[in-house]
Amino acid sequence: VSDAPLADLLEPFDPPARLLMGPGPINADPRVLRAMSTPLVGQFDPVMTAAMNRVMALYREVFRTTNRATFLVDGTARAGIEAILVSLIEPGDRVLVPVFGRFGQLLVEIAERCRADVHRVDVPWGEVFPLDQLAEAIERVEPMLVATVHGDTSTTMCQPLHDLAAVCDRHGALLYADVTATLGGNAFEMDAWNLDAASAGLQKCLSGPSGSAPVTLSDRAVERITARKQVEAGLREPSDDACASSMAPIASNYFDIAMLLDYWGERRLNHHTEATSMLYAALECARIVLVEGLDAAVERHRLHGAAMTAGVRGLGLDVFGDPAHKMHNVVGVEIPAGLDGDTVRADLLRGFGVEIGTSFGPLHGRLWRIGTMGYNARADAVLTTLSALEEVLRGHGHAMPVGGGVDAATAVLAESG
Ligand SMILES: Cc1ncc(COP(=O)(O)O)c(C=O)c1O
Repeated sequence: VSDAPLADLLEPFDPPARLLMGPGPINADPRVLRAMSTPLVGQFDPVMTAAMNRVMALYREVFRTTNRATFLVDGTARAGIEAILVSLIEPGDRVLVPVFGRFGQLLVEIAERCRADVHRVDVPWGEVFPLDQLAEAIERVEPMLVATVHGDTSTTMCQPLHDLAAVCDRHGALLYADVTATLGGNAFEMDAWNLDAASAGLQKCLSGPSGSAPVTLSDRAVERITARKQVEAGLREPSDDACASSMAPIASNYFDIAMLLDYWGERRLNHHTEATSMLYAALECARIVLVEGLDAAVERHRLHGAAMTAGVRGLGLDVFGDPAHKMHNVVGVEIPAGLDGDTVRADLLRGFGVEIGTSFGPLHGRLWRIGTMGYNARADAVLTTLSALEEVLRGHGHAMPVGGGVDAATAVLAESG
């Protein structure tokens, strides 16, 4: 309950300009914000259905796939994860989850809610799994599904996926990856790596706001899901009865991918009311990254991530985790002993309008996480963040080389011309 007088509540809301350099969300590209303010059209207006088809085609390029089932789940990235897991998993199915950070734990939690028989394997945070360890677990568990995160922003680690599908295939398992934090900023190849399902969000390397989850599913995954299809009462036609199957129905209406496919497909069966402005945002995000070129976007993230990493080292700070498997777009920075990480973050925000991230679980209080992604994977954003961080750290009595962060980052950027 707010105690504020109504007159205060009726004041216009004018959020300040911030430079969002945490692990996501980042500042949306102004072109995306413009797209979101364009006129709404009706859900079944031919302009809208053409836009939906265009979104599907654009995201096939972004995921590098020919999967027909490539579309948006309305909701944040977690909605995409949940839609895929609840639609694929029948109660009792064995699901293997490799956990190397917080978002692996989220997959465990969602799979458990789907009443899967969940088996997890763990490595210490800051590391990734060697293929052998995953192969041994797959052989032992014989899962229906292996569900893994690609890049876990909680630890900044990127799990190599390119060889995993072959192992899954040998044991009849499907392979799903959460690519929320990697798509568009780190190499990802849906088809060449032979994955069965992947889901993403807009608010990281794709330069958008959160609120839409691009997903893609192989024919094999779609076959399993449509075998469980039940068309909602009120829309059902006599021919739909033939679809009834002995498999358990999908335990969510909103996230039922069988129904979503009928909504995005030729049948255009009504489901939810489309989040039109988010669809415009998703369309623009895909257009922007494809106009730049996916490989060029990945290289831009590599370069600016390397500049930020060199910059924090240039400030005398240590970088967390296995450097060989670090995501391009986020760096974990060890908080120097004696400093209060949250106060430093608050001072950065108050004094410079720069936001960096805190950490979760075992890393809370130990790490800051600094992102260079999407629209913010730019030299000026990197250099501004490093100079602000230097100033704030100096104010907290932390000794470091003057200009060391900006100098080191500039040297990396200069190497690329
Ligand atoms: C790897 C990963 N997966 C999932 C999520 C959840 O995304 P959302 O908050 O958009 O639901 C995040 C968010 O940081 C993430 O980094």
